Amino acid sequence: RHLPAEPQAPKGTLEALRAEAAVCTRCPLHANATQTVFGEGPRDAQVIFVGEQPGDQEDISGRPFVGPAGRLLDQVISEAGIDRSRLYVTNAVKHFKYEPRGKRRIHQKPNMGEVKHCRWWLDRELALLKPKLIVAMGATALAALTDVKERLQDVRGKAMAIDGERTLFVTVHPSYLLRIPDEQLKAEEMARFREDMLEIQRLM
Ligand code: URA
Repeated sequence: RHLPAEPQAPKGTLEALRAEAAVCTRCPLHANATQTVFGEGPRDAQVIFVGEQPGDQEDISGRPFVGPAGRLLDQVISEAGIDRSRLYVTNAVKHFKYEPRGKRRIHQKPNMGEVKHCRWWLDRELALLKPKLIVAMGATALAALTDVKERLQDVRGKAMAIDGERTLFVTVHPSYLLRIPDEQLKAEEMARFREDMLEIQRLM
C-alpha cells in the first residue's frame, strides 16, 4: 500500500527551496548541526539582509538572527525606522559550525569552501526574491555575495551596484559589535552601525 504523498510546496518557490535545504548534505556541516536555518521573510521582500551563519540559538530554534546578534540588529533597525517583518533575513552559511567545549558550543567561522558550497542556496534565494537591495553584514556575507576580493573596511557604508540592477550595501556584523571590549571603540562602532542602518532605510 502507498502512503498518501506529503503535501509539497510548488516547485520554484521559496517554500520548496526551504524544504530542499532542510535535508541538505552538500557539505559536512549538516552532521553536527541541529537543523538547517534557512532565510526568513516575505516572498515579496525588496530588501535582504545576509549574515554569516546561524549561532547557537538559531541552530536550536531554526530561525535566523534570534540570539544576541539578532536582538541587537532588531533594536538598531527599528530605531532607524526599518520594519523587520518587511525584510528577508538569511545567512551565507545555513548550518551552525561550532566546537564543543564542555556543555558549550563555541562558534567557528565557516571557511571559504563552506561558504562556496552554501552559495548554492543563497544564489537561489536571490534568484527567487530578486531584491532591489542586498545588505551584507560582515566579511563572510561580503565574500559570499561578490567575487571581488574587497576588504570590508574599504567598502563598508557604501552602496555598490552588482549583477546589473541590484544594489549591495556593506556593513559590519552585529556580533562584531557585541565582541568589542573597549567601551569607547564600541560606542563609535555602534554609532557607525546606526548610520549604516539609516542609510539603508533611505535606500529602501
Ligand atoms: N549570526 C549570524 O550571522 N547569523 C545568525 O543568524 C545569527 C548570528
